[in-house]
Amino acid sequence: MAKAEKEQTPEELAALEERRRIEQALERGKREKERAQLGGLWSRRDFFGRLSWGGFGVFGGISLLAAVRSTFPRVLFTPPSTFKAGFPGDYPMGEVSERFKKEFRVWIVRNEEGFYAIYAKCTHLGCTPRWLTTESKFKCPCHGSGYYKTGVNFEGPAPRPMDRVRISLAEDGQLLVDISVKYVYGTWDKPGAFLKV
Ligand code: FES
Repeated sequence: MAKAEKEQTPEELAALEERRRIEQALERGKREKERAQLGGLWSRRDFFGRLSWGGFGVFGGISLLAAVRSTFPRVLFTPPSTFKAGFPGDYPMGEVSERFKKEFRVWIVRNEEGFYAIYAKCTHLGCTPRWLTTESKFKCPCHGSGYYKTGVNFEGPAPRPMDRVRISLAEDGQLLVDISVKYVYGTWDKPGAFLKV
């Protein structure tokens, strides 16, 4: 059995005090180490917590944007299929007019009898041919198909003539072209495929 403190000698008391100090120091060190480990664990948790909240926020933002976008109607602006092309007198005899090719993909041609309008689409694979004034022919840049001024094919892989589109006179005397009505070769004698003036 250990002696009571008051019965211990001063040397024993000093040694006991020294042991207590060492144990306290060891205990303090142990606790600081535990605190440090706990802090590291919490900072990792904070990191993953912030990461998941961030992901949630991004997802929520994208969903909100999609919802707002869906409230606006999607409108496709397509040009009208019918347009007025000016007065017959605006077109010189024999001319192939490219005035409406860019916007409506149409050439308007005037000959001695009247007008016809050719839809500028190669019948091979659908490229847009060019009008070559000096050679008096349409030439497709894709695979070399060639067409006469009438739109009839004569060279290259095009299997048939280009289509014509409806041409008529509007009430005010202007040419009226409707690209939604097409005339394939063989129907060019139908009203609308040619305009006599
Ligand atoms: S698309 Fe015109 S020749 Fe092929």
